[in-house]
Amino acid sequence: MATPSTSHNPALGASAPKRYHPVAVLLHWLLGLALVTMFVVGIYMTDLPFSPERLKLYNWHKWAGVSILLLSAARLAWRLWHRPPALPVAIVQRMPAWQAAAHHLTHGALYVLFFAVPLLGMAYSAAAGFPIVLFGVLPLPSLLAVDKELAELIKPLHAGAAWALAALVVLHVAAALKHHWVDRDGLLLRMMPGRG
Ligand code: HEM
Ligand code: HEM
Repeated sequence: MATPSTSHNPALGASAPKRYHPVAVLLHWLLGLALVTMFVVGIYMTDLPFSPERLKLYNWHKWAGVSILLLSAARLAWRLWHRPPALPVAIVQRMPAWQAAAHHLTHGALYVLFFAVPLLGMAYSAAAGFPIVLFGVLPLPSLLAVDKELAELIKPLHAGAAWALAALVVLHVAAALKHHWVDRDGLLLRMMPGRG
């Protein structure tokens, strides 16, 4: 069921959902773990000498990345359909305006990068002439024609977007922990599995 946005509306505060839907919570933690793993594997595999292990990790990174892209699309669809709970009024009243803006901007930028990072990875693979084989069995059509010069332009964009995502995640986690340990306002519990 879609829930209406009650953003910053004290009148609707009592009836508004207090926490994220269990599906949103599941997707948040599943994709969080998957993205951190992808980032670490990406850095590790590019440093390996040419070997069957390197080739295996590259293939794994590519099909896992495409799976993450599909899950991110499902997540976005879910979010558009089920609006997240509005920030509690007590928190909004205490937050300086820049912090409220940063909260929404960070979440928006994270969503943009959930798509930009894997799409740039796919574009690089296509331009470099390396096919993507989903789960090692299903070859996917190429996004672009082979063009080695273009591939060399796209490669640092994929790496840069992945680093930008990592930087935003660090900021996001720091903010979540500040809310939890310094402000003690219960914001983190909205994204924790559990009832109520
Ligand atoms: C790779 C790791 C992570 C990513 C990509 C990520 C991404 C996101 C995104 C996009 C949202 C917005 C959800 C929405 O409105 O649809 C969100 C919310 C949230 N995240 Fe994360 N997250 C990550 C890790 C974490 C960690 C480690 C924590 C806790 C320490 C955390 C705590 C939260 C909380 C509390 C919210 C809800 C904020 C609110 O109540 O408005 N996240 N996260
Ligand atoms: C979904 C999230 C993804 C994340 C977080 C991610 C992250 C990374 C990182 C951190 C690197 C190392 C960059 C460097 O320092 O040079 C990397 C490299 C790479 N990624 Fe991804 N990636 C993702 C998805 C994809 C996808 C979907 C593909 C292609 C289908 C892909 C293809 C590649 C390739 C081919 C490289 C190696 C580039 C080189 O040889 O330098 N990635 N990725």
